[in-house]
Amino acid sequence: MGRISREGSCMKKIDHLGIAVNSLSESLPFYKHALGLNLLSKEEVSEQKVKVAMLECGESHIELLEPISDDSPIAKFITKNGTGIHHIAIKVDNIEEELKRLKDSGIKLINETPKIGAGGHKIAFVHPKSTNGVLLELCE
Ligand code: CO
Repeated sequence: MGRISREGSCMKKIDHLGIAVNSLSESLPFYKHALGLNLLSKEEVSEQKVKVAMLECGESHIELLEPISDDSPIAKFITKNGTGIHHIAIKVDNIEEELKRLKDSGIKLINETPKIGAGGHKIAFVHPKSTNGVLLELCE
């Protein structure tokens, strides 16, 4: 099987794991106190209809996502799958360039143009159909 050449892309790293929760206030004590992770921020991301808590975990982060309305993608996810790992986010240098390259290689994207995620970062999701079932977020 051929390997796709991705020269120059070896600096990518996992930025965070997104975890769907029913309630930040009920979930945070475990991550903060039992696990001892540092809470970096808590904010509402209205575009995604979620409240987000970002915790520091080494070079990466854990992102807890609480839905703020029934039509939030996270509410739909919890109804279907229960709480748990929702997505993996990979940090990229230039998200528009990355999205174009993926699209040109026939990768199915959920967002062809970036949206604004937690921390005001540009984000976009790659469809699980193209990632062996993982919802993948690119973030810049
Ligand atoms: Co995320």
